[in-house]
Amino acid sequence: MKKTAKAHSNIALVKYWGKGDEKLRLPVNSSAAIALDNLTTTTTVEFQENLTADQVDLVGEGFEVGEVEKVSKHLDRVRLLAGITTKAKVVSQNSFPKAAGMASSASGFAALSAAAAAAAGLQLSEKELSILARQGSGSASRSVPGGVSVWHAGTSNETSYAEQIEYPKDWDIRVLLVMAEDTSAKKVGSTEGMALATTSPYFQIAVREAEANIKKLQASMGAGDWRAFGKVVEDECFRLHTLCMTETPNILYWRGVTVEVFQKLLSLRERGVMAFFTVDAGPHVHVVCQGKDVTRVKAELEQLGGIKTIIECGIGEGARLVEQHLF
Ligand code: DP6
Repeated sequence: MKKTAKAHSNIALVKYWGKGDEKLRLPVNSSAAIALDNLTTTTTVEFQENLTADQVDLVGEGFEVGEVEKVSKHLDRVRLLAGITTKAKVVSQNSFPKAAGMASSASGFAALSAAAAAAAGLQLSEKELSILARQGSGSASRSVPGGVSVWHAGTSNETSYAEQIEYPKDWDIRVLLVMAEDTSAKKVGSTEGMALATTSPYFQIAVREAEANIKKLQASMGAGDWRAFGKVVEDECFRLHTLCMTETPNILYWRGVTVEVFQKLLSLRERGVMAFFTVDAGPHVHVVCQGKDVTRVKAELEQLGGIKTIIECGIGEGARLVEQHLF
């Protein structure tokens, strides 16, 4: 049975940075995110009796050896659930280049989980699919429900999963992904970077702060308070990067343009435009704003040098099966 699934990448509003259980990928704190409709991974999976090893390909880019191993390991999780040993053919395609330093593991493992589970004949609930995706890459748990979601940290495999939460629809949330030209900093992947989180002297405080910020985020959405929402988003950006900068060895993901975008948004705020910044494990800034402000924010950002491109996103759906197969 050949199955294809689509899933969107997501940007964390409350960040995941540190695992309590490495093997199960149980995070040290709950996190929250927005799925991004224009950043998509599509993946087709078929378990084929004639194969002696999994055959895995990423259209136009290919996978590195380590990435193929991760995919194969994830297929093992699906095979275990389905009680099969058959190897699989997997073809995946991103709507954005993996090499651009965008988080493709979230959409990648969400799409892979949905396609592989269906191809193996499993009928998993959204929660079960989120649990499965989490084991491939933590942030992928949030791409399964899509929308605006919270990943409950949980204390076991069964209790650590993401689900959608309500948010004020009249906010008309948009995310502008501002891609930096300068990606020259030494690349430290999220998995590698967060493994060192406990070396930060601020680690324990940061974990407590994250849990408090989840509550603040939900309260701001309940009250329809956009400014309070934005304050949490930026506090979380600084919380993540404080951890990164104070780890051993220190990690500095920002480049000059990252800070220039922050400054530009702060100056826009003085002029009454409420757009907020956040950054994951790289130099690119995600600007969280409202539909009514997109044109103005974009025009201001375009005045800055050092920006490769700006990708405008709305809120994406959850992982789902589609009919158009990649092979
Ligand atoms: C900075 O989900 O990529 O984007 O579970 O090791 O695969 P693994 O990590 P990953 O980490 C994402 C880190 C982050 C923050 C976030 O998305 O919450």
